[in-house]
Amino acid sequence: MTDSRYIAVPPGAIIPGALPDFRIYVVTPQGKHVLWALEGKKVTTEQLAKLSESGTIEVFIALEEQFKYELYLESNLGNILGNQSMADDHKAEVFSKVSTNVLKVAFETSYGLGTMGTAAIQRTQQFIENALIFIKEAKSLQALAKMIGHDYRTYEHSTKVLWFTVAFLQLNPYIMEQIEPGYQLLDETRRMDMMKQCGIGALLHDIGKAFVSQDILTKNEPLNEVEWEIMKRHPLNGMAMLIDTEIPTFVKKAVLHHHEDFEGGGYPMSLEGQNINILARVLRIIDVFDAMTSRRSYKDPMPPMKAAQIMIGMPEDKEEDEDPKQDDRDMGMRRCFDRDLLKKFIVFLGNVKLNE
Ligand SMILES: [Fe+2]
Repeated sequence: MTDSRYIAVPPGAIIPGALPDFRIYVVTPQGKHVLWALEGKKVTTEQLAKLSESGTIEVFIALEEQFKYELYLESNLGNILGNQSMADDHKAEVFSKVSTNVLKVAFETSYGLGTMGTAAIQRTQQFIENALIFIKEAKSLQALAKMIGHDYRTYEHSTKVLWFTVAFLQLNPYIMEQIEPGYQLLDETRRMDMMKQCGIGALLHDIGKAFVSQDILTKNEPLNEVEWEIMKRHPLNGMAMLIDTEIPTFVKKAVLHHHEDFEGGGYPMSLEGQNINILARVLRIIDVFDAMTSRRSYKDPMPPMKAAQIMIGMPEDKEEDEDPKQDDRDMGMRRCFDRDLLKKFIVFLGNVKLNE
């Protein structure tokens, strides 16, 4: 029987040499939680080897120490995601948990300050730097596939947009060339830095929603005119929040342009074609794809290939109650996307092992 006073964590998250500031427990065959490691004590390779030999698949942390565990995950993320003995599903779980926490702090502190503070920016940059190697691994695409169909909430959605964006750009360096001519000739450090900046744009594309009330963000019915006007300000607010930060201009523009439609008519500026920042054109596709394939309180997730079909302009099974102005799931959405990028994205989806 599970004991609600404890949470299970994968042993792979406990890395040798780390100094967790929380107690770690194991469960006896009788179901009793017994102390395995004390807080502030280095966990050794020998201890972990013994644990693995005993066939332990999970260790436990007291619920009241969960926040310490989450901070530990964030500060040790690079090592945890690089742990060869840890299952990819567990890595994906750790990655999503840390991403959600980093975003939560970014949203909450930005709301208070009216801008994204230096500490939140640095924390976000650090997170992406640590997560990048894992996201870029080909096998992480299998873990990504399992995330498709999960709930649509701002933090989780932004995490998936980050993951999709980096994985997609990684396989399409010609897009990176458009952001930075000569990208493929840059050294590895510079290429990683460019990818990190794109990841920041993806993760923070909706940061302007920090100023949109939860009532509007979580409303189950179509938004009314006033609410819709407030919602449409989020790209502008997002860019305003990033304007004084060290984030590169192309990323700030991507945040501003991520709801612009390729054939015009998007917001906030109704730009067209190449006038829309290239990263924003990528985000437009991934943002809509994830919204369509996520579970919401009022709809089941759409299968990825059906979403792709609608995005490319081959509609089927039109749902009568959808308001095309308020929801991207409308049949006329082909005008929203850069066709060339959309084709590339659909090819990319073939690399993600979709659960259909
Ligand atoms: Fe958005």
